[in-house]
Amino acid sequence: MCGIVGYVGPGADERALDVVMEGLARLEYRGYDSAGVALVNGHEVATAKRAGKLANLRELLAEHPMPPSSTGIGHTRWATHGGPTDQNAHPHRGGTDGKLAVIHNGIIENFHALKSQLLAQGITFTSETDTEVAAQLLAIAYEEAQDLTAAMRQVVNRLEGAFTLLAVHADAPGVVVAARRNSPLVLGLGDGENFLGSDVAAFIGYTRRAVELGQDQIVTITADSAEVIDFAGNPAHGTPFEVTWDAAAAEKNGFPTFMEKEIHEQPHAVADTLLGRSTPQGRLALDEVRIDEADLRAIDKIVIVACGTASYAGMVAKYAIEHWTRIPCEVELAHEFRYRDPVIDERTLVVSISQSGETMDTLMAVKYARQLGARTISICNTHGATIPRESDAVLYTHAGPEIAVASTKAFLAQITACYILGLYLTQLREAQAAADVPEILRELAAIPDKIETLLGRMDRVREIARFMADSRSVLFLGRHVGYPVAMEGALKLKELAYIHAEGFAAGELKHGPIALIDAGQPVFIVVPGPDTPHSLHDKVVSNIQEIRARGARTLVIADEGDDSVAPFADEVITIPQAPPLLSPLLAIVPLQVFACELATAKGLDVDQPRNLAKSVTVE
Ligand code: G6P
Repeated sequence: MCGIVGYVGPGADERALDVVMEGLARLEYRGYDSAGVALVNGHEVATAKRAGKLANLRELLAEHPMPPSSTGIGHTRWATHGGPTDQNAHPHRGGTDGKLAVIHNGIIENFHALKSQLLAQGITFTSETDTEVAAQLLAIAYEEAQDLTAAMRQVVNRLEGAFTLLAVHADAPGVVVAARRNSPLVLGLGDGENFLGSDVAAFIGYTRRAVELGQDQIVTITADSAEVIDFAGNPAHGTPFEVTWDAAAAEKNGFPTFMEKEIHEQPHAVADTLLGRSTPQGRLALDEVRIDEADLRAIDKIVIVACGTASYAGMVAKYAIEHWTRIPCEVELAHEFRYRDPVIDERTLVVSISQSGETMDTLMAVKYARQLGARTISICNTHGATIPRESDAVLYTHAGPEIAVASTKAFLAQITACYILGLYLTQLREAQAAADVPEILRELAAIPDKIETLLGRMDRVREIARFMADSRSVLFLGRHVGYPVAMEGALKLKELAYIHAEGFAAGELKHGPIALIDAGQPVFIVVPGPDTPHSLHDKVVSNIQEIRARGARTLVIADEGDDSVAPFADEVITIPQAPPLLSPLLAIVPLQVFACELATAKGLDVDQPRNLAKSVTVE
């Protein structure tokens, strides 16, 4: 969702517009529907904003060039309060003279009450946004304080909800002031220039030295300084970190789309997430898990909280974690978890999974779990993000920046990190499966090469996808760990191709979904490997026969060498063999390629599907 950039550079350079526009382009992946910039020049603030994509803003800037400047802020907006119009786009101005400009990410929950007060004072508004309220309040506070940082401090203490705010004022050239509460903000430190961003992508073209800002902090940047205080005005500091990837990692590298590139990066995402986390003898060494070992041994329940694709990674993990550790494990959508009355205490381990580390519902679920006394571990792909900071410990996935809105490589990295956590707990608690840990780690280490092999033979899947470009509905069936794979396969198709798609547990077929089957209905079936316990393989093969007998077109994903499915399949897509619990890392790949290719054949933007945002930072 909303992307934020702030920049102050040396007075002589006056390249703020270029830096801010480049930052906005790098944040496009977050999802947005309007964009704008504000520059401070002399004793004026100039703004430009437009509904639609950045190309529209660039057009406007070409028609009406902005004055050169060394101080600027920029915003990509994902509409919440008020539609995606020119008027509602950020920046918003405050004060009768319009000398102050503000951009905002989040939702100011008490904005109605504040707006009424301002209206009663005779202040007029030009947009329907909650942000303009903050702009007007800041302008009033600035009149009194004559200092932008002091004004920001006064205003944030009146706001409720989640926000990152950035402000500039015509009378304070060379200064950008930012505040954050529950919304993302990172600081980038350059040489004689400083940056602010929703995430490090905003300034990765200029510096890799970053500082993660804490909750309820205000930062004031100039070209040579960055000063942090808390909302009470006390000096504070963030946590410095070095960004481990460079600008090239956020480019397409010859692939037509980020989605294609990220699908092909999956072998690395898995390998890098495994890297350095075990000894040659096959023992896991997770120095980063800072929770007391005695506490981890005492855990009697694990609850995984996540949203979207990350929740399907959690569903896969549940099968493995329970099997290895023998600790009961639940998976819950974060937005459901926080509004019921879950049974959680200090012996519960709450594992959050989030690529961005900013998903508001997941963040709130973690905070809620901590209030209830639980231990919390975050599985996250983004350094400097809020969820790891709010958790007791973090296990980073090393998938590299994921730019395409719909998640692919992060999903595989999340599953891998969950396996690592599960195996670590198994080893720590000396569960019965502890003796198997070295062998499971060996099998895991072999997965990246198998994904590579699989990616090398996706031609037929692409052909099928192009052939099916006119499909109205596609169903996905799976069982055991194949069930979440089916759900994720369906989600990818919905997100990328806007086709009705549903994933079902194959065992549920006769309890309803089979009524959907009629002549020609395409159904993907993820078949468990022949070694899956309880004859699940045979049961799913029976399901294939049942739907085929009713006219379904069966697209079967099965292990290499599993000949039993061929007689009942219209298409067989084979995947390299792997132990059943690890098979999702392979089975999902053809489904990702299928959705991506089908959407491309329909001429859709696979990197930025309509209405979606990568980082859902509001409820
Ligand atoms: C959005 C994205 C999904 C993602 C979900 C959770 O809905 O479009 O791709 O799975 O958020 O995001 P997170 O960053 O918490 O993993």
